[in-house]
Amino acid sequence: MTDPAEIDPARSKELMAIEAEAFFYTVFEFLGYDFRHYTDASRNRRLMAFVDRHSLGSISRAQDRVLRDPSLLASFLSTMTINVTEMFRDPSVFTKIRTDLLPRLATYPRIRIWVAGCATGEEAYSMAILLDEAGLLDRSTIYATDIDSESLRVAASAIYPADTMVGATRNYQASGGERPFSDWYVAKYDRSILNPALRSRLEFFSHNLATDSTFGEFHLILCRNVFIYFEETLQRRAERMFWDSLAPFGHLVIGPREGLTVDGMKLFKAQDRRLGIYAKTQNQRARP
Ligand SMILES: C[S@@+](CC[C@H](N)C(=O)[O-])C[C@H]1O[C@@H](n2cnc3c(N)ncnc32)[C@H](O)[C@@H]1O
Repeated sequence: MTDPAEIDPARSKELMAIEAEAFFYTVFEFLGYDFRHYTDASRNRRLMAFVDRHSLGSISRAQDRVLRDPSLLASFLSTMTINVTEMFRDPSVFTKIRTDLLPRLATYPRIRIWVAGCATGEEAYSMAILLDEAGLLDRSTIYATDIDSESLRVAASAIYPADTMVGATRNYQASGGERPFSDWYVAKYDRSILNPALRSRLEFFSHNLATDSTFGEFHLILCRNVFIYFEETLQRRAERMFWDSLAPFGHLVIGPREGLTVDGMKLFKAQDRRLGIYAKTQNQRARP
């Protein structure tokens, strides 16, 4: 028998990992939020940060509280998700969308785009700006989803801190945008309110890439800076869902920081591997 006071630091780390596994399993079983296949180190670090922030003392106590207190659950979900984003993030990706993907999108009478893991919405609004400039916004709908309800609330408001418009303008210009960026928002005190015409073509709602299924057919899907938090099994699930969700010849944009899994490479053909732009393969038999 070991006296609890004598559990050495290495073993207490082990204990923490076991408690964390149990926590994430319970959260999945009882609440349906699946963090079981997120990369371990950052997932457990975030869980501990959550425990500390709310002075919960232990993971087991956190588990009990999260299961019973909706406001604590919302706070837990926000802690678990990293919602850093910006307008026209990685401008060269938007340049490529502008030059290579918009001409194909223009051939559809109704354009459907899914921005998965949209965080606070900047990526979806950037897409709306591209479509508007190309005269395509009126016949487009952008479905923008995330699991973090707090982020989605900001996204739906279309209001951002005024100082973020400096970086947004710089990125927009770097992506090849030629209009004054101030055409897209009005400044009010320390806020910038995006043009309502952009907002009117966007639908924000909750969707979990780990547990939910597809909700339609899209011509273009963007899912950038999300796979980085997923273990391979979870990424494979999302890749298959994106394949199922894309219309023939549809495109998937994952951005320059991430790659597809080996199975994903059978579902999508690289159109620009450096920028993370892929086209859906048509060969059903290629599916893993
Ligand atoms: C770093 S942000 C990326 C935002 C934007 N796509 C970009 O590239 O700027 C990652 C987003 O993925 C979301 N996310 C994490 N796990 C998710 C899941 N299982 N389903 C849907 N969204 C998820 C997070 O809530 C977060 O808002």
